[in-house]
Amino acid sequence: MHENKTGATSRRRFLTNTGCAAGASALSGIALPPVHAAGTETIQVALVGCGGRGTGAAMNALSVTNGPTKLVAMADVVPKKLNDNYDKLKTKFPGQVDVPPDRKFLGFEAYRQAMECLKPGDLVILGTPPAFRWVQFSHAIEKGLHTFMEKPVTVDGPTTRRMLALADLSAKKKLKVGVGLMVRHCRARQELLKRIRDGQIGEIVAMRAYRMGQGGGTAGPRPEGVSEVMYQVQRFHAFLWASGGVFSDYYIHQIDECSWMKGAWPVEAHAVGGRHYRRDSLDQNFDTYSVQFTYPDGTRLFFDGRNMAGCRDEFASYAHGSKGSAVISTLVHTPGMTRIYKGQNIPRVTSRKQLPLPPDPNLVWAYPQPEQSPYQLELDDLLAAIREDKPYNEARRGAEASLVTSMGRMAAHTGQIITYDQMLNCDHEFAPDVDKLTMDGPAPLLPGADGKYRVPQPGVLKDREY
Ligand SMILES: NC(=O)c1ccc[n+]([C@@H]2O[C@H](COP(=O)([O-])OP(=O)(O)OC[C@H]3O[C@@H](n4cnc5c(N)ncnc54)[C@H](O)[C@@H]3O)[C@@H](O)[C@H]2O)c1
Repeated sequence: MHENKTGATSRRRFLTNTGCAAGASALSGIALPPVHAAGTETIQVALVGCGGRGTGAAMNALSVTNGPTKLVAMADVVPKKLNDNYDKLKTKFPGQVDVPPDRKFLGFEAYRQAMECLKPGDLVILGTPPAFRWVQFSHAIEKGLHTFMEKPVTVDGPTTRRMLALADLSAKKKLKVGVGLMVRHCRARQELLKRIRDGQIGEIVAMRAYRMGQGGGTAGPRPEGVSEVMYQVQRFHAFLWASGGVFSDYYIHQIDECSWMKGAWPVEAHAVGGRHYRRDSLDQNFDTYSVQFTYPDGTRLFFDGRNMAGCRDEFASYAHGSKGSAVISTLVHTPGMTRIYKGQNIPRVTSRKQLPLPPDPNLVWAYPQPEQSPYQLELDDLLAAIREDKPYNEARRGAEASLVTSMGRMAAHTGQIITYDQMLNCDHEFAPDVDKLTMDGPAPLLPGADGKYRVPQPGVLKDREY
């Protein structure tokens, strides 16, 4: 395995040692048009960020049925993550995982090395924390690679502007780009959208969404021997620069799926939230958030988020229309159990123990169970577009979803009304040098003399979150 503690990778050593070196040296810096893989041609895959979701997405990419795929390179900053998930992938897909030690790369530059093992028209999966998205997506575009990248794709105004420009560039280069807002690929939600567009619940007049769970995003003290930057990267939900916190990382799904059903992005957010029960946690999150998003026609989305043990859990999204109401999500992302009801009385489902739902005279329609996994469908759809060379680019939509999510978060963290334009033009970049991080170098956020990190102060800090 190639490890590079300083992040200043020994490119020469890599180029002379690896099987992909010749291709890499021949291609570096040259923007080639993507090669489109025909049905029978193997699409090579590189995985950057080999954690839970990256590994899941790689499994989905190796499970597509419309042509051969092969995992050829892996990159991470934590050896154990890379090795453990390599073992998992190799065990499950022995014939499709071909990642010898010299195509396993470690360090903040490892993404470049992994991408050098691909040829234009291959696929890279970005499963790293969101802060790294624009850096790694820029390189994928430069190399002519199709990309699947997890959400959120940005965490602040400046990186959203950058990502929107990259979205345009990738579309211009006819690259196919998937963004991990997998609900958009769920056939049940697609059917619900069609029914809403057909007028089955009338005009949407309000929406509600809930992501209330027992915890998340906390951080204990930095363990001995772990650098500040590696401590924060490994607890990325705790630090706003790395992930946008639990607000961006968790809540983006509900905000995106409601906006999709509405057919618009919200134009402003006002919010309340607080940090009451974090105990000794060193993270930057609030433990409660309540946000009112306003759409261009004045329709509101009321969103509640809570990360607090002992409180009632709820995970759901609802649309209320002039003629009826709809359930967009129930309990989890999948199955969505989408339904349409006559009137506005939607039975609340907060536990699996309530399933299957009893007969309800107000139920108009329910998507038949079982549902296919949208995590598989999003990769099926992306790979089909690559093979058929169909236009397919979710990067702009992913950046917009990330932006409106940041808008809600900033409204809560500052105690101000934040508009779409204010969020887009906000100049607070949380991690300006994230492309230059090294394993032992300075972190984008430093603790104060008391060992604590800055947290949002609504009403005190009004034009930046910390
Ligand atoms: N769509 C979904 O439902 C869903 C579910 C879970 C996670 N996610 C998203 O997936 C992303 C990863 O989340 P996760 O739960 O898999 O986290 P994770 O911690 O399990 O995985 C992240 C991996 O990236 C590695 N990493 C960190 N910085 C890196 C860098 N600069 N270069 C290379 N590797 C790096 C980490 O060591 C780790 O192995 C997040 O953006 C998260 O929001 C999406």
